[in-house]
Amino acid sequence: YYDPSFSAALIGWQQQHGRHSLPWQNTGDAYKVWLSEIMLQQTQVTAVIPYYQRFLEKFPTVQTLAAAPVEEVMASWAGLGYYTRARNLHQCAKRVVDEYQGIFPSDPKLLQELPGIGRSTAAAVAAFSYGSVAAILDGNVKRVFARVFGVEAYPGVKAVEDDLWLRAEALLPTKDIGAYTQGLMDLGATLCTRSKPDCPRCPFQNRCIAHAQGRTAELPIRKPK
Ligand code: ADE
Repeated sequence: YYDPSFSAALIGWQQQHGRHSLPWQNTGDAYKVWLSEIMLQQTQVTAVIPYYQRFLEKFPTVQTLAAAPVEEVMASWAGLGYYTRARNLHQCAKRVVDEYQGIFPSDPKLLQELPGIGRSTAAAVAAFSYGSVAAILDGNVKRVFARVFGVEAYPGVKAVEDDLWLRAEALLPTKDIGAYTQGLMDLGATLCTRSKPDCPRCPFQNRCIAHAQGRTAELPIRKPK
């Protein structure tokens, strides 16, 4: 699956057309990156922004978050939904303070051991905070890959997801991992949307199997009933 032209095209697109001014971008602070990625797991960017800013005013560092009573953390999360995220967030902050002296590890394998951080979130945090080269695979990225590579199976099946992870790993760039990772997220969120994708603006239009076959509406394959 190795193909360096994939990351080159995506990085070029991200630098020209991707999002560059989201509040959690342009920070070298892994705490802020981690907080944003947890909030963004199940919530849209526009809904996250005000919560993210208020949360950081109340808990500006991982130490302040770890030391806070869980009730105060839950109160700051109220309205965002999926409240397990907030409990895991608090537990994770405590462990980063106790086990890592308040410094988030840069190794995605270590990040993945922490509460609320799965494989894709671990990679995103490591890439954005430290430039670690690691693959993400969230719902948006699965859709981009399913279309570009014409994956004819439901991505919820383990073997299909394993195959998508293999592709995600093989396509990683050796530099500009932050722009690459943001580019995958931005492409899935802004152009390669579930309905009415904007193929004419897509950097992968010339290689996308779903587009070539006029089948973006059928890919990715929907959950079988
Ligand atoms: N969704 C998940 N992570 C994101 C990020 N860093 N920027 C925009 N949307 C996201």
